[in-house]
Amino acid sequence: MSTPLKVAVTGAAGQIGYSLLFRLASGALGDRPIELRLLEITPALKALEGVVMELDDCAFPNLTAVEIGDDAEKIFDGVNLALLVGARPRGPGMERGDLLSANGAIFTAQGKALNAAAADDVRIGVTGNPANTNALIAMTNAPDIPDERFSALTRLDHNRAISQLAAKTGASVNDIKKMTIWGNHSATQYPDVFHAEIGGKNAAEVVGDQAWIENDFIPTVAKRGAAIIDARGASSAASAASATCDAARDWLNGSAEGDWVSMAVRSDGSYGVPEGLISSFPVTTKDGNWEIVQGLEIDEFSRARIDASTAELAEERTAVTELGLI
Ligand code: NAD
Ligand code: LMR
Repeated sequence: MSTPLKVAVTGAAGQIGYSLLFRLASGALGDRPIELRLLEITPALKALEGVVMELDDCAFPNLTAVEIGDDAEKIFDGVNLALLVGARPRGPGMERGDLLSANGAIFTAQGKALNAAAADDVRIGVTGNPANTNALIAMTNAPDIPDERFSALTRLDHNRAISQLAAKTGASVNDIKKMTIWGNHSATQYPDVFHAEIGGKNAAEVVGDQAWIENDFIPTVAKRGAAIIDARGASSAASAASATCDAARDWLNGSAEGDWVSMAVRSDGSYGVPEGLISSFPVTTKDGNWEIVQGLEIDEFSRARIDASTAELAEERTAVTELGLI
């Protein structure tokens, strides 16, 4: 048996954790042994013990060990992958950015703990909201970990966009490639169909309905999180866990040939996105590394939307700088 992949999950007793842990343990990252290291705040440890009892009861063949605790440095010791989920979710009427002051401090402490304890090859995916700026906070507080090891989750938005496009066109989700989410995991995000393909044809041309793209598709994808909160009374959990798995699997194992995925990663200035922001881009991945897809033509329609979302990210960066978090 190969050495287990040590995977940390924070907020493991929460809603997303309750789906994510079982997906990870049952092979979402591939048929490989994994060890789970689960971080919670002290009052949630008892509930987490119950979740671990359930993990035990599944007798997952690839789950070699589970450790739980409330000390980030101990839990992050030697981890190869850290999925930072633990943070307060928004309620009805809130924007994700409203969580900055409530959740930002979690990511300073966890960035420092990862810096001190994680394995040299660690990859860190941030799901807890506001995900992009939380990733920026963790990255800035972990100076010894290369910046490209941090990413924030926009894969859920990417999957939502594929699903909406499939429903509109009658195509299978399997036929939809090269979807891109640009910018922030927020209502300003820009789901881009102009570079996407359906069965090898340009998706915008297949749809052939600019009004639907502008007035229906983009707002539906961008505001899907709020629609789920309204309907369920709680924020998305199983779909968020599923997207967290998809993102981690593709990062570690590679994106599919002839396709790309959306990941929020540190901007190098590509496509005019200010350097240093954690912004969503089209990326290809291979062997635990990502590369921003280059050379896409950005028309005026797309430019305005990318700029609006990255301006919001720049404002969030200013806000967390003023809060002393970075
Ligand atoms: P939840 O409230 O059910 O669970 C969060 C858990 O985090 C709780 O068990 C809490 O005790 C724990 N926690 C809080 N502070 C912690 C800390 N310092 N260390 C470790 N654990 C800590 O929330 P949830 O529904 O699981 O959502 C978690 C986060 O994910 C929220 O911020 C939510 O908005 C976000 N989210 C992001 C996406 C995305 O696509 N990026 C999608 C869905 C939800
Ligand atoms: C989502 O997109 O479902 C999550 O980010 C939760 C939220 O607050 O919208």
